[in-house]
Amino acid sequence: MRKPLIAGNWKMNLLNSKVPAYFTALNEVIKAVDRQKVDTLLAVPAPFLATARESAQAAGVWIATQTIHEKHEGAFTGEISIPMLKDLGINWTLIGHSERRQYFNETDATVAAKTKATLEAGIQAIVCVGETQAEREKGQMEGVLRRQMEAVLAVCTKDSNFTIAYEPVWAIGTGLTATDAQAEEAHAFIRSIVREKLGSLADRLRILYGGSVKSSNIQGLLAQPNVDGALIGGASLDPQEFGKTVSLAASR
Ligand code: 13P
Repeated sequence: MRKPLIAGNWKMNLLNSKVPAYFTALNEVIKAVDRQKVDTLLAVPAPFLATARESAQAAGVWIATQTIHEKHEGAFTGEISIPMLKDLGINWTLIGHSERRQYFNETDATVAAKTKATLEAGIQAIVCVGETQAEREKGQMEGVLRRQMEAVLAVCTKDSNFTIAYEPVWAIGTGLTATDAQAEEAHAFIRSIVREKLGSLADRLRILYGGSVKSSNIQGLLAQPNVDGALIGGASLDPQEFGKTVSLAASR
């Protein structure tokens, strides 16, 4: 069985000055959790990375950034490079979140370039894929997931280390969670594409589900054979709620 990863994504929320108190509260909730049973990560805004890394140590939580640039340095105003992350001791990033695709024009090609850069640099990426409501209604879910996955897998080998997050755009921040069966169907499909392209990598690849996950629905999702964790937006902003979700994941 793949070890579940419960990841939070704060998006553009909270404040650096509140970060230490967040982790103190989170640690209270998860300090008794058996870390052999669950991995935990939070993707925080870039200005909080140093504070979060320091504060997260006691709680044993990995810190990620929410995006990176594929180039190591240069005239790219506002961007964050992999060497900058490494210099802060950060080893994780999200890539291609639907909000990056929707509002910041990230394409399958840029997502692939960023993924390639992280693989080459030994940074762990959580690469996000998922269809919009309109695409699902038009029966295009599988086509969209195949296109997004093939772009990513084209830069991977069977030895690559990364994580996929399936986040149906219609379930993000809407309170609409995919049913356990809908999540399982999409995850099984994604895994089948990985198997087709890269064989046994499919057996160890963690595929997280994202879209209105919280403590009340995590257990049903994790009971699905192809759901290996969650990427949690809104419900990760509250340390008690996020900690409860981590605890429930460890007891599955
Ligand atoms: P919500 O959990 O707020 O729906 O957000 C999901 C998400 O986009 C996580 O990256």
